[in-house]
Amino acid sequence: MTAQDPNILNNLALAIGQTHTARAPEFISEEAPFDDAQRQWLNGLLSGLHAIASAATAAAEPEEAATALTVLYGSQSGNCEALSKDLRKFAKTRGFDASVAALDDIELSDLGAINHLLIVAATFGEGDPTDNSAKFYKTIMADDAPALPSKLNFSVCGLGDSSYADFNKAATDIDRRLEELGATRAHDFVGCDVDFEDDYAAWKTAAFDSEPFVAAAGAAGAPEPVEAVAAFDKNRPFMASLMTAEALSGEASAKCVNHIELSLAGGGEDLDYEVGDALGVWPVNCGQEVQAILAATGLSGREPVKLKSGPAQLRSALLTRLDLTTVTPKTAEVWEIETVGEDRQVIDLLTAMNLDMSAQQLVDGLRPLQPRLYSISSSPKAHPGEVHLTVGEVHYDLNETARKGCASTFLGKRLGSGGMVGVYVQRSAHFHLPNDNTVPLIMIGPGTGIAPFRAFLEEREAREAKGKNWLFFGDQHAACDYLYRDSIEAWGENGLLTETSLAWSRDGVEKVYVQTLLEERGQEVFEWLEEGAAIYVCGDATRMAADVEKALLRIIETHGGRSPEDAQTYLDALSAGHRYQRDVY
Ligand SMILES: Cc1cc2nc3c(=O)[nH]c(=O)nc-3n(C[C@H](O)[C@H](O)[C@H](O)COP(=O)(O)OP(=O)(O)OC[C@H]3O[C@@H](n4cnc5c(N)ncnc54)[C@H](O)[C@@H]3O)c2cc1C
Ligand SMILES: Cc1cc2nc3c(=O)[nH]c(=O)nc-3n(C[C@H](O)[C@H](O)[C@H](O)COP(=O)(O)O)c2cc1C
Repeated sequence: MTAQDPNILNNLALAIGQTHTARAPEFISEEAPFDDAQRQWLNGLLSGLHAIASAATAAAEPEEAATALTVLYGSQSGNCEALSKDLRKFAKTRGFDASVAALDDIELSDLGAINHLLIVAATFGEGDPTDNSAKFYKTIMADDAPALPSKLNFSVCGLGDSSYADFNKAATDIDRRLEELGATRAHDFVGCDVDFEDDYAAWKTAAFDSEPFVAAAGAAGAPEPVEAVAAFDKNRPFMASLMTAEALSGEASAKCVNHIELSLAGGGEDLDYEVGDALGVWPVNCGQEVQAILAATGLSGREPVKLKSGPAQLRSALLTRLDLTTVTPKTAEVWEIETVGEDRQVIDLLTAMNLDMSAQQLVDGLRPLQPRLYSISSSPKAHPGEVHLTVGEVHYDLNETARKGCASTFLGKRLGSGGMVGVYVQRSAHFHLPNDNTVPLIMIGPGTGIAPFRAFLEEREAREAKGKNWLFFGDQHAACDYLYRDSIEAWGENGLLTETSLAWSRDGVEKVYVQTLLEERGQEVFEWLEEGAAIYVCGDATRMAADVEKALLRIIETHGGRSPEDAQTYLDALSAGHRYQRDVY
């Protein structure tokens, strides 16, 4: 029996007609004029036709769409930017299709069209927004900032450091101001500390679980395929070995700045870095400081303790896992003490208060040790398989006692040749050389701010870049603070450095700083800018970077004939075009 049998087809038409529906019946009725075998064959045919029709209908019907979400970040050293990418992936599994951008990449007027907004923002300087959120911050804080619609549902997560007086200030301000302007806070602000991972994860889930997000969620997409996990990152550092740690500064210097060379041999491509990137370094605390804490608490160091990372012995936890200096509000809470005072570190509290506490209470009051970032001062083209750093040792007196920085003295003094240190590459999204080798560069990096510029110059030399290079460097004294003097002089002689401006603040009667020289050469600096030069600033964030910016604005006013407002617009445009970039700390 086949479909070509004319009787069957006629009878099939009749059977279909008997259903009084436009669609073919799903099976042949008992009354239809077929024998059992014919009925069985036709039922098979009809079921196949139905399957094809259902599939076609399903394909024609659009899938329930995901809801649009905007994720904005303000990031200086890359944490918030990385989290915003994580948010985009997570959003997909919750029915949202997220677009991700820096806060400064959107106009305030764009916010009116957005219904769902998540912001992850860091705080820098002294409670300031990051370079890529400064414009947004200024506009939103202005008295004449436009009202925002209540349909704009937002939530803000801040990344900060509770040892700063203005803990999470920039993100807190943004959160408050969005609500003042009329937007709807979908979920409360969360301000994370340096160990931000858990608080961020809790905020993320809670924001998507908030009523305005749940109500608007579209079709959830499958999780994105898991990307090849980097073998080495912040939480899985590569153990690099120390090749060299030698003083760059002379004995007469007020500081000790060390040139550090680490071997990345065996690390593979996860450790490939570009000039402009930073290296994350996991320090080990000073054994004498651990001993002082044990002595002050009367603990032996052999006590078992529980950390977030798992069980450990107290001494090793104090050496490698915990921050031995910073006092946070949690310290006071866990140790059940009233006032801590701003100038008190952990050891000051322990010795002054004679606290009787268990090993577990001690570690619960300390925050986790964090890696430190260092601007990479080598080009991988000039030093394959190695990474170099330029590290200023931190030493100071507090309450008449000598103190030292943890990581800078670990690298310079305690690690020792052949010693192993956990490292990872922290990619810098916004501090890189232009691909165009003809672009002129103005590099302003006094003190350890020279680090990325040694790398830039090595790289430009290796690339045989034709663009002009102008270095502004300085410190207190030429005799003992001229870091990388041999290289800089050689680059001056071979023409790689078109101009070198050196500012020594304590060699003459007058104090001369890099910003002083910048203004003295203002006419030429402006000409370089007009020729398309890119300006890079690295080093001290508190004074130098702000003073350099003021000097640049005055140069644009004086030599570019601009009003103060137009000079700011000129500098903002350089910034937006990635021609004014800063790596300041
Ligand atoms: C992106 C980036 C790039 C960087 N690049 C470099 C670089 O190339 N070279 C470099 O040397 N550093 C660089 N740093 C700084 C570096 O990361 C460390 O912060 C620095 O080395 C100090 O770390 P530490 O562990 O030695 O000191 P810590 O143990 O962290 O001690 C520093 C802390 O001590 C306290 N302190 C310091 N001085 C005083 C004082 N006078 N009175 C009271 N308290 C004080 C402050 O709380 C300060 O935060 C960079 C930072 C960033 C964010
Ligand atoms: C130079 C410097 C200044 C900082 N100032 C503050 C501050 O004033 N308040 C604060 O809460 N955090 C401050 N922080 C901590 C950063 O906000 C924190 O490290 C954050 O994780 C950085 O995020 P990002 O990598 O996205 O830039 C500062 C960090 C640095 C290096």
